[in-house]
Amino acid sequence: MLVVEGRAYIDGRIEPRAIGIEDGTIVAIKKQLRGDPAYRYGDALILPGGIDVHVHFREPGMTHKEDFASGTESAAAGGVTTVVDMPNTNPPVSTPDALRQKLRIASRSAHVDFGLYASPTSGRDVESLREATAFKVYLAETTNAPVIPTFELAGGILAAVAGAGTYMSAHCEDPRLFGKGVATSLEEHHRVRSPRAEASAIAELGKHRGSAPLHIAHVTTQEALQAKPEGATCEVTPHHLLLDATAKLGPRGKVNPPLRSPQERTDLFQAVLDGRVEMFASDHAPHTVEEKSVRFEDAPAGMPGVATILPLMIRYVRRQVLPLERFVSMFSGNPAKLLGVNKGAIEVGRDADLVVVDPRKIQPVTAARCRYKCEWTPFDGAEGTFPTATFVRGELVSQEGELVAERVGRMITRKKP
Ligand code: DOR
Ligand code: ZN
Repeated sequence: MLVVEGRAYIDGRIEPRAIGIEDGTIVAIKKQLRGDPAYRYGDALILPGGIDVHVHFREPGMTHKEDFASGTESAAAGGVTTVVDMPNTNPPVSTPDALRQKLRIASRSAHVDFGLYASPTSGRDVESLREATAFKVYLAETTNAPVIPTFELAGGILAAVAGAGTYMSAHCEDPRLFGKGVATSLEEHHRVRSPRAEASAIAELGKHRGSAPLHIAHVTTQEALQAKPEGATCEVTPHHLLLDATAKLGPRGKVNPPLRSPQERTDLFQAVLDGRVEMFASDHAPHTVEEKSVRFEDAPAGMPGVATILPLMIRYVRRQVLPLERFVSMFSGNPAKLLGVNKGAIEVGRDADLVVVDPRKIQPVTAARCRYKCEWTPFDGAEGTFPTATFVRGELVSQEGELVAERVGRMITRKKP
């Protein structure tokens, strides 16, 4: 039996515990356990591994930005043990062939567990794409994604997804409400693709929801949260919580939906503290330094982030702004529920996905520590607390950011209800 020992987060409490693992599953949790091997982490915290339901790993088609191996290495470096990859790769995951192709790629290269989104173009496509983990619709134009032109069509997809036993994630911006002209700065970008356009798309989609499982990607304002239909879930990105349109990031800060005003940003943070947001997700959307080093209007939207959710947000736990319990449920427990997987808690019978972290350790955020293939991060130089170790189903995958076991990732499967 393999044992991981430290101050473990179990049932909402931190206690010194030994976690016994066999065949990737937690089989015992005791004060002491004899193990071979035994990893002893003293008074460092052991938390359930992170689950990021929104990453763009760019493979196939754009592997100069990222690929499954590099993206999952960064995930492990940041304590994320499961990712769900977005369908706007090339070709887009809108056909069974494209889905099979991506599954082949991910299965042979992923260092952490993964799920795959498909993007149906109508409700009729859903059945043939049922092997996908979940579904994604884009209600406004964005990188290489088929846009769903009407809310009725999106509603039809949502109804079909309900029958498939999973959820639909929606990128909500209403292009009918976009401002005129081309944005040349972060503040203009925020005005053109405004909070009103975002909230309107959420409200319109909500009208077609019925009782189907709807997940709203990257909400950026309280207005958006208010528009969210009862029972739908949502995610928030660290960049919308920690950066705003006044940031001196130029084209690197360009992202859809945009960074908002300082007031909207702090209100969003407050909503997280109030428990109104179910989960963190990174919307990790890397582009190269070269691609971002052009005029604002020509730059692609998106920024990397899969390795910095825990390092940045755990700082707020340490400062007693964010309760540890909320952090863990947003980083792991709630995304596990959304996906219906046997992860997201340190409990006998669950997958042994663990992250070891010492909140007293502070390290500046750098692209190198994040292992980013794109070689930049919008949080460069910020205070971070990076994990000491990351375990995926009992395998030590990453140690101080260094990859120590390769390609252990598997496609996740939903628990039978
Ligand atoms: O900023 C964004 N970048 N928003 C999206 O919806 C897509 C993403 C990307 O893939 O680059
Ligand atoms: Zn995205």
